[in-house]
Amino acid sequence: MSESSTNNTVDTADTVDTVDTAVQVEGVWKVFNQGLANEVVALQDVSLKVAQGEFISLIGPSGCGKSTLLRVIADLTDPTKGSITVAGLPAHQAREQQRYGIAFQQAALFDWRTVRRNVELPLELQGWDKAKRQARAMELLDMVQLADFADHRPWELSGGMQQRVAIARSLAVDPPLLLMDEPFGALDEMTRERMQNELLRIRMETGKSIIFVTHSIPEAVYLSDRVVVMSPRPGRITDVIPVKLTTRNEDTREEPAFFEAVTAVREALRGRGAGTPGRAKAGEV
Ligand SMILES: Nc1ncnc2c1ncn2[C@@H]1O[C@H](COP(=O)(O)OP(=O)(O)OP(=O)(O)O)[C@@H](O)[C@H]1O
Ligand SMILES: [Mg+2]
Repeated sequence: MSESSTNNTVDTADTVDTVDTAVQVEGVWKVFNQGLANEVVALQDVSLKVAQGEFISLIGPSGCGKSTLLRVIADLTDPTKGSITVAGLPAHQAREQQRYGIAFQQAALFDWRTVRRNVELPLELQGWDKAKRQARAMELLDMVQLADFADHRPWELSGGMQQRVAIARSLAVDPPLLLMDEPFGALDEMTRERMQNELLRIRMETGKSIIFVTHSIPEAVYLSDRVVVMSPRPGRITDVIPVKLTTRNEDTREEPAFFEAVTAVREALRGRGAGTPGRAKAGEV
């Protein structure tokens, strides 16, 4: 990665050893309907290295490949070209070993299971006994303030409530990595801020690495160590904005460093970022 150190001065993750690397994406392409009239280059030569314990946000216009990038990292779809490792393991092995939790853009809950049993599902797959997994599911539902709905079915909940169930489920096995695709998109502003703080608390206490997709610039800045900016057709990384906030609390959103980072991300999204096009060219993050 020495090449990228010279080109990309913001890459604090560049110096870490492989063992300290939560996710390594190298030269990944994803082409849908290859060779057909409706071919789409969803990802073009994307490289991204996420350090252990790092919080990365992906931001970019609709259709730029954010979900696709999360899906190839999660081994839910194969890259057309390139390689991915999660905690040093090939992506499919990481999936088999449940090395990450994923909260999708759509909650993707099972309607025939109660809310609690949806949260229990990953624990069942790991062979937890009933009493333990019920207790764990209730603890998580309590955290997302849905304990009262444990015995309801997902379709009896609002969209935002379903999202919170999906977030609880993604945390169930306490995975070292979380892949979150617009998890707070359907939440009201107050709940969203509470969930953001909850996520930061979990991350502080557990040292989890998080890749988080959002359309909200302030949300990306508030949560992240680095904000990765993508552009569409072909989907690629165009900029990486480091966020230099020391703490996150009620006053953070009033701080100059917060506004500076928000402005930098906004400029990058308009294609006028300091590093565009030179700094993170061809996805060298
Ligand atoms: N299964 C698929 N088959 C064909 N094309 C697809 C498929 N999935 C995604 N695409 C295309 O790949 C591109 C990237 O889609 P993706 O869902 O990753 O975008 P996104 O950045 O997550 O957008 P949004 O912000 O709207 O969620 C789009 O042009 C989309 O049409
Ligand atoms: Mg998406």
